[in-house]
Amino acid sequence: MRTIDEFTITDAALEQMSLTGDPRLKVVMASLVRHLHDFAREVDLTPAEWLAGIGFLTAVGQKCTPHRQEFILLSDTLGLSSLVNALHDKRASEAATKSSLQGPFYRQDAPLMNLGDSIISKSEGTEIVFYGRVLDSTGKGIRNALIQIWEPDETGNYDLQKHDPSEMDLRGCFRTDAEGRYYFRGLCPTGYMIPMDGPVGELIRAQRRHGYRPAHIHFVIGAPGYRELVTALYVAGDDHIESDTVFGVSESLIVTLNKKDPSSPLPNLPSIHYNFHLAAATNQMSGRVGADPAQITGASRGGM
Ligand code: BEZ
Ligand code: FE
Repeated sequence: MRTIDEFTITDAALEQMSLTGDPRLKVVMASLVRHLHDFAREVDLTPAEWLAGIGFLTAVGQKCTPHRQEFILLSDTLGLSSLVNALHDKRASEAATKSSLQGPFYRQDAPLMNLGDSIISKSEGTEIVFYGRVLDSTGKGIRNALIQIWEPDETGNYDLQKHDPSEMDLRGCFRTDAEGRYYFRGLCPTGYMIPMDGPVGELIRAQRRHGYRPAHIHFVIGAPGYRELVTALYVAGDDHIESDTVFGVSESLIVTLNKKDPSSPLPNLPSIHYNFHLAAATNQMSGRVGADPAQITGASRGGM
């Protein structure tokens, strides 16, 4: 009979899990257990701290609804989402635009619009045009690519955070033209504080972090034969561009707002121009570190 102590417990747990049928589940869980045990030994975890951790994770789960994903927020603020994105980008077969956080405010049923339409339905603020092309790794335009877009309003809130989240605002889907071109009107992006009214916000305050994300707009871009790209564009000059609470900013995703742009399809509006590059598809699973919160809870939008 093995004596269970602070060291033998790890092998005992690994041994019990050794018959796991799914080989990937076996590898992932064994590594998780090894790291969790090492973590507990390293910090000399006390029962009170263990219970506080359980209480925290319980509160994170209790905060989740079809309109809110506190677990994704936790992953984002720990840097885990960005790490998983970086690993995903590294597996691409060709150079492509970098991924960035999907975050907790994506919705999968945004309306399909025509090129040049505005995604602004309720909000006020400075209207600008976003335009560019979706290209393959050789620089050839990808026709009929589906671009899903979402951004917060001028106060830094997404429609999902407002009183009637069933009403959509500042979201839309567009198809690229024969040359891979896209353009649409939206708001000049605004920076905002991540939701701070839950357990994740409490942790952020305890860590004396500011909680802000720099001004950005989100994109999910897909086309048959290409790897789906989940990313965001960040506006140069934002005060928090170097200290994003969720580590989403890469240099290559920073854009500048042009007040006068004769090359723009709508030259009377300020513009942001960006060309996206998609890598050829491989048979890997989805690259999304995120989902519509309603999909994760498995609930209809009506219930909270
Ligand atoms: C967002 O960009 O929508 C977001 C990402 C991570 C945490 C909170 C918000
Ligand atoms: Fe965002």
